[in-house]
Amino acid sequence: MIAIGCDHGGIELKNEICAYLKENGVDFKDFGINDKTSVDYPDIAFPVAQSVVNGECEKAILVCGTGIGMSMAANKVKGIRAAVCSDHFSAKYTRLHNNANVLCLGGRVIGPGLAIELVDLFLNTEFEGGRHKTRIDKIAAIENNEF
Ligand code: RB5
Repeated sequence: MIAIGCDHGGIELKNEICAYLKENGVDFKDFGINDKTSVDYPDIAFPVAQSVVNGECEKAILVCGTGIGMSMAANKVKGIRAAVCSDHFSAKYTRLHNNANVLCLGGRVIGPGLAIELVDLFLNTEFEGGRHKTRIDKIAAIENNEF
């Protein structure tokens, strides 16, 4: 199950991504928003991030105007590794090397064609582990004040 959420700056792109996921048989849970009412992005980022750390969802996609506010908010939740991506290389390597569990996209930055390719890379690229696991374990140590 993939969690997805957006604010008013990301609603059009989120709707395009939801349509794509539906067409391709990817199960997802939509945390809204579903109209263009202005909303504070942490109000969406937090429940989406929680759904990943509590195991309800495997990964998540968050969309705001830039992707940045959503990533800042999601990364405050212990266990979240959220990455803002607007290019193929970053989307691929944030899975291979960072084991990112949240993809953040900017609805005012990239178009739907590119966004869908980034979503595909994010959903279908496996973490490499090895030396990269040592590094993400150190991120967890920072979260736990054990660094
Ligand atoms: C909302 O206007 C905008 O600030 C938000 O979507 C996002 O870009 C924040 O990072």
